[in-house]
Amino acid sequence: MTRNFTWLICLIAVATVLFSFTDDTRQPDLKKSMQRGKVIYGNYCQTCHMQNGLGIEGVFPPLAKSDYLMADRKRAIRQVLYGASGKMVVNGKTYNGNMSPTGLNAKQTADVLNYITNSWGNKAKMFTVEEVKAAQKK
Ligand code: HEC
Repeated sequence: MTRNFTWLICLIAVATVLFSFTDDTRQPDLKKSMQRGKVIYGNYCQTCHMQNGLGIEGVFPPLAKSDYLMADRKRAIRQVLYGASGKMVVNGKTYNGNMSPTGLNAKQTADVLNYITNSWGNKAKMFTVEEVKAAQKK
């Protein structure tokens, strides 16, 4: 009898954990980070990448459904911290522009990344300050 009860508790625990991964209303930390990130995006990114994340074709690459952004988390962190110049192919279009370093700190970088990788149809695991710090050039 006690054994059956233990199994039931285990089952509920496992189900709860699995469910929390699939339902992002259960990720209050991500929600809060995205809210801060949205403000940062408006101040630092929107002029080029636009409010809808679509950029301007051929000039400013899109962040919305960007294969380039979503492919490599470390590269995405470094893109935000340090900017980039030279050729890059985003969703099949070649860009050869220049984005300056943003000057954002690790927390702001994590927040803006959480906003852009979870908006406009994008979906990604939460970026943390620790992950950003680990990706910084030493
Ligand atoms: C002055 C315009 C400008 C601003 C402001 C700007 N970017 Fe960019 N961004 C660019 C350009 C241009 C490129 C492409 C660079 C290249 O061709 O090498 C780029 C590339 C990117 C990429 C990689 C390509 C892609 O579309 O996935 C990401 C991610 C990105 N920017 C995020 C941001 C974020 C986040 C901010 C704000 C913190 C920001 N950018 C601010 C112009 C800008």
